[in-house]
Amino acid sequence: YAEDGYRLWLRYDKLADPAKVAAYRNAVSQIVLDGQSETIQVAREELTLGLKGLLGTDVSFVNQATKEGTLIVGTPSTSKLIASLNLKNQLATIGNEGFIIQRTKVGTTQNIVIAANTDVGVLYGVFHFLRLIQTHQDISAVNSVNTPKINHRILNHWDNLNRTVERGYAGASLWDWHKLPDYTSPRYKDYARANASVGINGTVLTNVNANALILTPQYLEKVAALANIFRPYGIRVYLTARFSAPVEMGGLKTADPLDPQVIAWWKQKTEEIYTYVPDFGGFLVKANSEGQPGPQNYGRTHADGANMLADAVGPKGGIVMWRAFVYDNKIPDDRAKQAYTEFKPLDGTFRKNVLVQVKNGAVDFQPREPFHPLFGAMPKTPMMMEFQITQEYLGFATHMVFLASLFKETLYADTYAKGKGSEVAKVIDRSLDKHELTGIAGVANIGDERNWCGHPFGQANWYAFGRLAWDHTLSEDQIADEWLRMTFSNDNRFLKPVKEMMLASRETLVNYMTPLGLHHIMGYNHHYGPGPWVNQASRPDWNSVYYHKADSIGVGFDRTTKGSDAVSQYFPPVRDMFNSTQTCPEKFLLWFHHVPWDYKTQSGRILWDELCYRYYGGAKSVQQMQQTWNTIQPMIDAERFVHVKDLLKVQEKEARWWRDACVLYFQSFSKRPIPSDLEKPP
Ligand code: GCU
Repeated sequence: YAEDGYRLWLRYDKLADPAKVAAYRNAVSQIVLDGQSETIQVAREELTLGLKGLLGTDVSFVNQATKEGTLIVGTPSTSKLIASLNLKNQLATIGNEGFIIQRTKVGTTQNIVIAANTDVGVLYGVFHFLRLIQTHQDISAVNSVNTPKINHRILNHWDNLNRTVERGYAGASLWDWHKLPDYTSPRYKDYARANASVGINGTVLTNVNANALILTPQYLEKVAALANIFRPYGIRVYLTARFSAPVEMGGLKTADPLDPQVIAWWKQKTEEIYTYVPDFGGFLVKANSEGQPGPQNYGRTHADGANMLADAVGPKGGIVMWRAFVYDNKIPDDRAKQAYTEFKPLDGTFRKNVLVQVKNGAVDFQPREPFHPLFGAMPKTPMMMEFQITQEYLGFATHMVFLASLFKETLYADTYAKGKGSEVAKVIDRSLDKHELTGIAGVANIGDERNWCGHPFGQANWYAFGRLAWDHTLSEDQIADEWLRMTFSNDNRFLKPVKEMMLASRETLVNYMTPLGLHHIMGYNHHYGPGPWVNQASRPDWNSVYYHKADSIGVGFDRTTKGSDAVSQYFPPVRDMFNSTQTCPEKFLLWFHHVPWDYKTQSGRILWDELCYRYYGGAKSVQQMQQTWNTIQPMIDAERFVHVKDLLKVQEKEARWWRDACVLYFQSFSKRPIPSDLEKPP
């Protein structure tokens, strides 16, 4: 392999330390893995590949645990050995996808067991076990009971059928529609392996803005070919449903969700999809948003639209993920309020198999946003989180930013929906409202570039999304640590500085792009680079000036009870906290308040000086990232070292670009000097 990142975090290079290799070989001297399913077969393949790579030896598969150090893998229904062990009580707690990895006595010998209730649970256990070795964990007393906290863990590909990827920065779409179904790239399997290794169990193949062509038989045949490859890995395929498809494809005069012909059309279409993909997961829908068609075109509600599709897929076990990313420039209200205004009254009117999919914040995947007020506000409806893994507003695939920090910040924000301790994570993992369905989606950053994500560190965000979707209690530190060990090196001299750099990277980016609650001040349309001056966009709510409202007095959007009153969409303790500059966290200050330039911030500096301090500090931090990266050169391969080094050069240049553009632009309002002595990072 060239060291180009193709293998992602599944590198399986031989461990450097002979003592470790010997210890692991003793712990796994042979394997009993019963079962015949395709999933068990891929689990066997992965174990073979992984152990051979990591330990440099072929570990043989046998029928009996004849000696110490036998790895025993399977489910009680496929393996007599597993069934004979005393695992019943534990297995009863881990559901369909969980697994147990345990060192246990079998007969007279000590062995490691990977047990689950289902074959896919076994596969997840196998990946986890390999990860323990890859990250040099001590397995001599391993005892891990591991269950996902969220059921639907899904990637959303914004891939078009012409292979362009909306907001994708890592090449063309992976899906080679032209050659499918007959030619299936081996890469599809590697994609499935990577997802399964972190527990991602669904993929929406098409863009939320895609046309309806994907629903035609010639494309469904291609979809089926992909689904067949993903199935053994526990991954179900979903599609986007263009709401006007009955008109565009079906020749009907209307797409009104209450029209009997429309209902019949979707029912029939859905049945057809299930003939191609018997375990089809369901639909993701963007409706009445940014010009897309939807039920409101016919005077119906989002619930009418979602329920009609839900009734079509329901009998086959499918779900509908209905997006709440709606706003309309014809509505004069603050854009940040519109989704809540439209959706909250619909709580309790959706079918059981509908999830409402809500972006993490109320505007649009900014470097930092307060959590979306819909979380906690619709207790009768399962709410699904939508994160963006692709870096649309975060420097595309050229800036290094570790998004676990952003994901965790949102997931652990307290909504106060049911009093203190009602974190967003509890809304989506059902611990608050006990819904049957739970889900989390990430807009993928994957393309056909050799290293999948463009930036070698972009892979960490795919990894982090999957790990947090499985278990949101994992810390950023642990996720970064695992990923670095698997992807680069277990050497502490590498790990420590690079992990620190990753963990600080999101705050650094916020500082040089949108500090103190600024948002949506990027270049028009392409969303790359600074553009606080944008005021001529095709609609006012795409202008930067709409959001920062800079004037001679100050800067920021007044969303308090005296302003747009967006604060009142939050539960009272949160509303009150955001409503006052005294209690509003400074990181959200300009999101909620129009603040005078001479306002005293927590540091003692006036707002203008603090803003400059952040911009300069952020840019300075990128120079420090460069210095850190230079120190680890001897510890990794030259190819990835140079790749990251060069991208950091771009990032450093562009951090200065953001700094200079924003500081000079806002200075034309503040009319204040740029303070001297700004070269220290915050
Ligand atoms: C953003 C993004 C669009 C995308 C939209 C969505 O506005 O720029 O490209 O279609 O979000 O999430 O629907």
